[in-house]
Amino acid sequence: MATSTILTSTNMTNAKRRRFDKGEVVISPVTEADLLSLAEGYYASFPDSWFDKIEPPHLRTTTSAMTPPQRFAERMKPWLLEPHTRWMKATLALTSPEFDARNPKKVIGHAGWLLPERTSTQILNFWRKDAARKLAWHERMSWTSDFEEELWRGVDEFEYNSEEKGFLMWDNIREGLLGGVGHWHLAPLWVLPEHQGRGVASMLLQDAIAIADQSDPPPPMYLEAMPAARPIYAHFGYEGVKGPGEKAVMIRNPPKGVETMEEEEWRERIGGSFKL
Ligand SMILES: CC(C)(COP(=O)(O)OP(=O)(O)OC[C@H]1O[C@@H](n2cnc3c(N)ncnc32)[C@H](O)[C@@H]1OP(=O)(O)O)[C@@H](O)C(=O)NCCC(=O)NCCS
Repeated sequence: MATSTILTSTNMTNAKRRRFDKGEVVISPVTEADLLSLAEGYYASFPDSWFDKIEPPHLRTTTSAMTPPQRFAERMKPWLLEPHTRWMKATLALTSPEFDARNPKKVIGHAGWLLPERTSTQILNFWRKDAARKLAWHERMSWTSDFEEELWRGVDEFEYNSEEKGFLMWDNIREGLLGGVGHWHLAPLWVLPEHQGRGVASMLLQDAIAIADQSDPPPPMYLEAMPAARPIYAHFGYEGVKGPGEKAVMIRNPPKGVETMEEEEWRERIGGSFKL
């Protein structure tokens, strides 16, 4: 689907939606009990084209004991134990007219952050497979090799982890832009499709921005944006960078030496050719 079509259809759908009232949505830390709901949210929120790339249909298996969200939920367990991270979720308050008593703890949105205290010395996206080895998660979680293999079943390693295309490539780009500079790394942000355009991402972003902006000077905040999400990040002061990573990287409070561009320029030069 062309970028312009994505933007238009997203905006049209969202324009009709009721914005959540203050207090209807609760922003709180993710716990281990949330991880399956969280993993299901990832699969529900990100475009099929994204999952078709990193977990292509030909690698999908029906013989595994675990579903893809169950495998992803297990992979995220050690993330919660790492210091200098902020894993936040959005859930509906009991007082919301849309609160679902049958699924009271359903996660409707999520933002995960790595904080400056760790990014100043280590550029390592937790989505990377080698994060388990680098951060000794096997030992900590008592993962056997067979279990780890099971956790990554169905994932295309080249698309997901390689220097050419995957999260390792993006970390190398981030190292070039922000190596040695403590920053907030957002990975990821999502809101369930039925609740998009109602202010939930806004609450999740503001939760972190309010803390980051207490530092003087406020640290850079880094992310890799899906095309349809760019206007939202720009609304919160993120700027697209020029050079390596320019198709997706946006930084709020970019340090000196990082060249940025207007969104107009991004749309003209890159928008139409963006491929997930
Ligand atoms: C991107 C995504 C997280 C946005 O979540 P959302 O809950 O729909 O976003 P919100 O309704 O909170 O909008 C966020 C803010 O951006 C503003 N905004 C939205 N569209 C905008 C636009 N085109 N131009 C300027 N501002 C815009 C909103 O007004 C709101 O700001 P406000 O609270 O000051 O009014 C959601 O669409 C999603 O999950 N998409 C699929 C997964 C994805 O792409 N994640 C991002 C990966 S980089």
